[in-house]
Amino acid sequence: MDALRTVTPLAEARASGFAQCLLDGLSRTPKEIPCKYFYDEEGSRLFEAICDLPEYYQTRTETALLARHADEIAALIGPKAEIVEFGAGALKKVRLLLDAAAPNAYTPIDISGDYLLAVTRALAADYPNLGLRPVVADFTAALCLPPLPGVRARAGFFPGSTIGNFKPDAAAGLLRRMRAGLNGGSLLIGVDLVKDPARLHAAYNDAAGITALFNKNLLARANRELEGDFDLDGFDHYAPYNPAARRIEMYLVSRRRQSATVCGHRFDFAQGEAVHTEDSHKYTPDGFAQLAARAGWRVTRQWRDVEGLFLLAWMESV
Ligand code: TRP
Repeated sequence: MDALRTVTPLAEARASGFAQCLLDGLSRTPKEIPCKYFYDEEGSRLFEAICDLPEYYQTRTETALLARHADEIAALIGPKAEIVEFGAGALKKVRLLLDAAAPNAYTPIDISGDYLLAVTRALAADYPNLGLRPVVADFTAALCLPPLPGVRARAGFFPGSTIGNFKPDAAAGLLRRMRAGLNGGSLLIGVDLVKDPARLHAAYNDAAGITALFNKNLLARANRELEGDFDLDGFDHYAPYNPAARRIEMYLVSRRRQSATVCGHRFDFAQGEAVHTEDSHKYTPDGFAQLAARAGWRVTRQWRDVEGLFLLAWMESV
């Protein structure tokens, strides 16, 4: 049994695609690692810590918008609804919607399986009458959810400006697939807005270094799951704002010439060589509405904080 346990994680990781994507991404020039692999259990916890950082205004601002406009949003969601959340994480923000709209059912989708089950159990204890169907999946895949008895409409929920982590073409494709999966339902989405570059830079370069740990968790995860031997001190977190492209670009930069082995494959890194790990695109309200329109959505209601940091948009299928 013990022997079985020690081999299982590697086999699971291979099956989950992390090994394949990592080997593929590190074989490219320039090197890259797809950002969805940030979110193993450790990464999901580190991300929760990011959301509490003083520099990371996004979570606080979006949560305040949800709280302030919860009744209006609940009226838009309507009775007997199912809320489908894409990349559900800690299931904190949705509680504001559950309290205000009292839907029949809640379907959180998240790639981090153990984490999703743990947080769903905690939610179930607080909402005993809510129908829960947690789905362990990559939310970018086509969504095929059987209709639930008694549910009249689906409302998608996609907070956190996760849409910004996709390049605009991929973001439009994702919004189109969500539209199909929601069966004519609406979508409530959170979008981080274009603003002072210094403010954006600080949000991804916190003084406590949590974002750096989160970025390096990709390498730590490879060490844990894929028999990797990355020296975590051999890489720097680097996350500049590119104002022309309106996005934060995140990298791991090799501090020196070095090599690392993962799944038995060796990779060489030059001094200063960058591994691209994520983009976080920022939008203007009009720019986002145009992106939504490309995907067959119409923004019919939107809310912003007084500082204009963050946008909550309610969209309906055209
Ligand atoms: N959707 C979040 C964003 O782009 C994800 C995120 C926040 C993030 N902070 C991060 C991802 C730091 C990687 C590193 O704002």
